[in-house]
Amino acid sequence: MTKRNMIAKAGFAAAVMLAMAASAQADDDADENEAKSLNQQYYQDVQQGLINVEGDHAAVTELILNRNIPIPYTYIAELMASPNAFGSGPACIVCHSSNDPAKSYRGLDLSTCEGMITGSTEAPARAIFVPGQDPKRDIMGRRLRNNRMPLGVSFNVEHSTDAIRTVEAWIREGAENDERFQTEVLPLFNTDDVFGEDTPACSVCHMANEEPPSFHELNLTSYEGIMLGADSVAKGVDNATKVIIPGHPELSGVFQHITEDRMPPGIDPSEERDHPNTQILFSWVKQGAQCQ
Ligand code: HEC
Ligand code: HEC
Repeated sequence: MTKRNMIAKAGFAAAVMLAMAASAQADDDADENEAKSLNQQYYQDVQQGLINVEGDHAAVTELILNRNIPIPYTYIAELMASPNAFGSGPACIVCHSSNDPAKSYRGLDLSTCEGMITGSTEAPARAIFVPGQDPKRDIMGRRLRNNRMPLGVSFNVEHSTDAIRTVEAWIREGAENDERFQTEVLPLFNTDDVFGEDTPACSVCHMANEEPPSFHELNLTSYEGIMLGADSVAKGVDNATKVIIPGHPELSGVFQHITEDRMPPGIDPSEERDHPNTQILFSWVKQGAQCQ
C-alpha cells in the first residue's frame, strides 16, 4: 500500500469513527429526552458507581428518598397505626385517634389523612405541618426528632414550671441582656436539677461554640453564646440556627426544647432521630401530603 493510500485510509477510518461517535451522541440525546424508567436510571447509576446500597438505611435513602418516589398515603396510615414505627413505643393512633379532645390527646387525629392535615383541634388548635413544605421544624417534625431538654428529662415533668415560665417571659419580653437575664435566667441554664429532678445543667452539654465538647456547637453559658445559636461553625455565623427569637417563645428553639416531648412518649433519647420511616413520612409531606 502506498503511503498516500494509507493516509487516505486512515483519514477514512477517522471520519467513520467521528460519524459513529456523533450518532452515538445523538442516541444519548434521544435517551435523555425520553424519561428513563426508575429501574433504568437506577442501574445506570449503579454502573457509574454513583450509588452504594450497602449499610444502614442506604436502600431507603438511595431508592426512595433521593429518587423522590411518590409515597402513598396507605403507607403513612400504616406507620401511624404500627407500634415501633419510629423507634420503640406504642403506635401514634393509640393516643391520637379522634378530633374529640376527651378521647384523643390534643384532639389530634392521626388515624385519617384529613385528621393529619387538620392537626390539633384542642386549644390552641393548630396544624402540625404544612403540605408541600419540609416538616422538620414544624410541630410534627420537632415531636419526632427532638429530644426534650435537658436530655433524659422525664416525660412526666410539667410543661409549666417556674423555671420554664421565667425563660418564656424573658423571651416574650424581648430577650434583652439585662439584669434579670443575668441574675434570673442565665443561672437556670447553668444549674443542675432546675428543669427536672436528677437532670444535669444545660451547660454540662452546651458550654462552647465547638463540637466536641458542646452538642450542636451551642453555648448556653453567656448571652452572646445563647444569641449566636447552634452550629455556628458548621453553618457559618450568619447561618447558625437561632435558638431565641425575641418576642416569640413558641418559635424559639430553647423554649421548644424544654417544653416539647419527643413522640411516642417515653421513647429513649438514644433512638435514632432520623429513622427511615421518619424520613419517608417527611417525604410524603414535602410531596404535598396526598390522601389518595
Ligand atoms: C401514649 C400516648 C401517646 C402516643 C403513643 C403518642 N402521643 Fe403524641 N402526644 C401525647 C400527649 C399526652 C401529647 C400532649 C402533651 C405534650 O405536648 O407532650 C402529645 C402531643 C403530640 C403532638 C403535639 C401537638 C401540638 O398541637 O402541639 C404531636 C404532633 C404528636 N403528639 C404526635 C405524635 C406522633 C406522630 C406519634 C407517633 C409516633 C405520637 N404522637 C404518639 C401522647 C401520645
Ligand atoms: C446530657 C446532655 C444535654 C443536656 C444536659 C442538654 N442538652 Fe440540649 N442537646 C443535647 C443533644 C444530644 C442535642 C441534639 C438533639 C437531640 O438529641 O434532640 C441537643 C440539642 C439542643 C438544642 C437544639 C439545637 C439546634 O441545633 O437547634 C437546644 C436548643 C438545646 N439542646 C437546648 C438545651 C437546653 C435549654 C438545655 C437545658 C434545659 C439542654 N439543652 C440540656 C444534649 C444535651
